[in-house]
Amino acid sequence: MIYAKNGRFLLGGNGFSYAMFVDGQGFLQKLHFGGKIQPFDLDFLISGIGKIQEPPQDNPNREGYLDGMPSECPFWGRIDTCEPMITAVRSDGGVVSRFVYSSHRIYDGVPAVQGMPRARGGGQTLAVTLKDNFSPVEVTLNYTVWDELGVMVKNCEIANGGGDPIFLTRAFSFCCDFTDERFDVMRLWGDWGKERSPEISALAHGVTRLQSTRGVSSHQTNPFIALIKPNCSENIGECYGFQLVYSGSFALSAELGNKGQTRVIGGINDLNFRWKLDENERFVTPQAAICYSDEGLGGMSRAYADFIRAQIVNSKWVDARRPVLVNNWEATYFDFGNERLFPIVDEAARLGMDTFVLDDGWFGKRDDATSGLGDWFVNTNKLQGGLKPLIDRCKQRGLKFGLWFEPEMVSEDSDLFRAHPDWIIGKSGFEPVRQRTQLVLDFSRGEVVDYIFGAVSDVLKNNDIAYVKWDMNRYLSEFYSSALPADRQGELAHRYVLGVYRLAEMLTDAFPDVFFEGCASGGGRFDAGMLYYFPQIWTSDDTDGFERAKIQWGTSLCYPLSAMSCHVSACPNHQTGRVVPFSTRGNIASLGATGYELDLTKLSDEEKSQVAEQITEYKQIDGLVLQGDLYRLSSPFDSPFFCVAVVSKDKSRAYVVGERALTLPRDVNRIIRIYGLDDSKLYCVRELNLTASGAALKTAGLVAPKTGDFGSWTWHIEQVADRAGNKK
Ligand code: GLA
Repeated sequence: MIYAKNGRFLLGGNGFSYAMFVDGQGFLQKLHFGGKIQPFDLDFLISGIGKIQEPPQDNPNREGYLDGMPSECPFWGRIDTCEPMITAVRSDGGVVSRFVYSSHRIYDGVPAVQGMPRARGGGQTLAVTLKDNFSPVEVTLNYTVWDELGVMVKNCEIANGGGDPIFLTRAFSFCCDFTDERFDVMRLWGDWGKERSPEISALAHGVTRLQSTRGVSSHQTNPFIALIKPNCSENIGECYGFQLVYSGSFALSAELGNKGQTRVIGGINDLNFRWKLDENERFVTPQAAICYSDEGLGGMSRAYADFIRAQIVNSKWVDARRPVLVNNWEATYFDFGNERLFPIVDEAARLGMDTFVLDDGWFGKRDDATSGLGDWFVNTNKLQGGLKPLIDRCKQRGLKFGLWFEPEMVSEDSDLFRAHPDWIIGKSGFEPVRQRTQLVLDFSRGEVVDYIFGAVSDVLKNNDIAYVKWDMNRYLSEFYSSALPADRQGELAHRYVLGVYRLAEMLTDAFPDVFFEGCASGGGRFDAGMLYYFPQIWTSDDTDGFERAKIQWGTSLCYPLSAMSCHVSACPNHQTGRVVPFSTRGNIASLGATGYELDLTKLSDEEKSQVAEQITEYKQIDGLVLQGDLYRLSSPFDSPFFCVAVVSKDKSRAYVVGERALTLPRDVNRIIRIYGLDDSKLYCVRELNLTASGAALKTAGLVAPKTGDFGSWTWHIEQVADRAGNKK
């Protein structure tokens, strides 16, 4: 719902309203973002909260009130001393702007975001255009809402209305100001193998800035920030989430100003960013998905999960059954041939899997990580007869075949690099930084993207491939393109991301039946931008059954379980050395798109029968896991227990997975309250053979079973009747 009248705007989605107005000086001010209000409330808001942000009556030209005014598009140089959203440098070097309302329009659907992932459609958009009093720069702020979604999408477009080129040195996607409210701030920080750990701290005065400078959204900081009211917890209280639909270097900042105001802004990282906009050109910023929840962090996560499923992930795949697969990486690393792979394929088929995925090492001269990237043709020394015998073996056993690529990279020891040494990112003559002994291809260049498209397409066309794992194992460092002129070098990081998106778009369009999984050295590019092309992403290289539970918990704060690829791997775990029961590894891996990452032929008979059982069980709950609502019940960060429930949308079923870290002497009984069920319905807990109302399961809870270290359990909960005794 969008209401617009006399310079007043009210937008509404599921459970929230967002209100703005044009003040006497033409500035677009924010009035409200929170619980639902009605159009008639706008008068009340303007005469109340709006009044304290108006120019002084005695001298309306004094603009001191901009300092503290909740602005929808803060600019540089006019007393608003918090951070600006846009800075545009003109040919005379001037940067000062004064953006005032010019016009608006409302239309059905989502604005075009050429060349970038975006919300897919439906909804309604308000586009407000502001003009700069001091330059030909024009900014259009886009706001899209859907009645059924608890998330709105914002972005902006910046146009050079005429004259000399301008240089954008900051072009953020959005601003969201709050007046005099105190917040804590949450971020998802991490590193390789420990991605997306939630961390909450009080928002202190000054700027709290989260960013990636690595050319990808990164293991270290996810493009997500939340503002949390002090009384907000998992199930109650208010919070706001801000998530970028973007996969490159980004910045998100929360600034607590000296007047008690809080400003959240973000978008493409402005460090080393400088975008030249010629006359009549437009720059479109990535979308930001913004969420308000009054049902605590859990409400925010469910709103984001619904939004990503409805608007970001390709509808062809979003509810499709995910392939239960085995991947050979941790089973063989680079050391394989058909004689090692065939037995794994045979075992995978016997145990009930759907797909075999051949990971790194099948192409070029690739016997370790030092060579071969870029040469996307089969290494016939390793795989005699090419991929065909292996694919045939899969087919004979009823399995589909998947293949690993790392399209953005090149090894110096490769035919591709020898033919095109200038195709890398970096300046010739300067020693490049090598990570994993590889270099990054310059995807800002159309011909490089086209070449890789051709090479990957040839493999996909000539072989029966159902699944692709798209990896990306290093960051960008020397931001320099030999194809860009000096005054456009500051565009490289964003142009690189546009190149990645173009290749992903071309490949997914050309091969619509191939299922693509994203990966970046584990979860180094886990963001809504990549989820637009790849319905699931390898969550982390860390598959330790205990650490993984934490990683998946953190990831679930703003991504659906269906986005997470989760595998059972061997013990001692290759990343941590820890031994965790096989059943726990299976239970944790069942909370997403499940699979196996180990040498199936080395499993004991007991373990093999567990695998077969896990797959049978998974196929009974996969729809629930992929489409249900997540309720986080016990945090592994705050207690020795991890526990989450996935509840079906109609609240007739729930699947609960719990895990205990280390046991303690005289361990007390731990009660787990089950949230998300219908209070008035009766449910049976299969494993306990207990019947209780949803209300009792929530208020009294269930006792966590006593397990050993890193032991785990599941509860399958099914509705049996409502309180009146009516059987389902
Ligand atoms: C990355 C991925 C792994 C595996 C290796 C192969 O680290 O995250 O799953 O594919 O690359 O080199």
